[in-house]
Amino acid sequence: MGFAGTGTIWMNGKLVPWKDATIHVASHVIHYGSGVFEGARCYATPRGSACFRLDAHMQRLIHSAKIYRMEYPLDLAGWQAAVLDTIRANAMKACYIRPLVYRGYDSLGVNPLPNPVDAAIILWEWGAYLGKEALEEGCDVKVASWSRMAPNTLPAMAKSSANYANSALIKMEALTDGYSEGIALDVSGNVSEGSGQNLFLVRDGVIMTPPLASSILGGITRDSILTLAADLGFTVRETVIPREALYIADEVFVVGTAAEVTPIRSIDKIKIGSGRRGPITEALQRTFFDVISGDVPDRHGWLTYVYEEEAGLRAPRAAVGANS
Ligand SMILES: Cc1ncc(COP(=O)(O)O)c(C=O)c1O
Repeated sequence: MGFAGTGTIWMNGKLVPWKDATIHVASHVIHYGSGVFEGARCYATPRGSACFRLDAHMQRLIHSAKIYRMEYPLDLAGWQAAVLDTIRANAMKACYIRPLVYRGYDSLGVNPLPNPVDAAIILWEWGAYLGKEALEEGCDVKVASWSRMAPNTLPAMAKSSANYANSALIKMEALTDGYSEGIALDVSGNVSEGSGQNLFLVRDGVIMTPPLASSILGGITRDSILTLAADLGFTVRETVIPREALYIADEVFVVGTAAEVTPIRSIDKIKIGSGRRGPITEALQRTFFDVISGDVPDRHGWLTYVYEEEAGLRAPRAAVGANS
């Protein structure tokens, strides 16, 4: 990835030059993972720069903070405005958006409560997470030897920094063993999710994904794919998935803000379906990319356009069609 190291970062309401956006090494979050964060994307579309499901992402941030008893003086509208202001201040056309709420600098007991709740919004350019080629060819993954967190240990629905210690173990193991990603099971041995993606499988034309109770993050891409699959008329089930169902699936794909919709072509060296992107994965991928690129009408109100001055690009579609 690598950061350009330029531009500004939003810190507690102020725009700070990238190199000055630092925190003290005695901040609570560094020692105990006491932070919650988001990962959203702004896309450069022919109709102008647009954030995908910014409201849903910022709502999840607020919920993650609530689970960890962190109060920050911004409501949903305030968070969305802060993100949009930061994108505009940096004149970004397309970027990855990382808002973070964390326990700052006061004392280093395990108890986080004496520490201030601070926040930042960081933007950078980030391309295809599992590689551009993987979007078409699919990638090779393994089932991780690490499980996802047990319920009643760390809450999977909160997107907390602490959960990513588990994700890091899954990811490092997969990379060390020569795979591009790891799929974790939950503590019952059923399929949970990837280190940073939700998982779907297709069998006999039915699309399935593990439920929230399988220790997954309630992904916003997952929710979008469930909606788009239903729009396309597919049967969709949120259901507990045993590990072996992965191997005999016709298609498997992972979804997330970073990974978007990425096909899986093998799991534990077992070929999935035909060993390439399957037709339902391709249909959903195409539909998803059409939505995020603004190529089709935004039926679900998922795009927030960033720049008022680009409003001219958003001429009503009917009028565009009439002139062409
Ligand atoms: C563990 C985990 N699961 C699922 C996802 C996908 O969530 P979303 O689609 O909201 O990005 C992510 C994304 O960062 C993740 O980290």
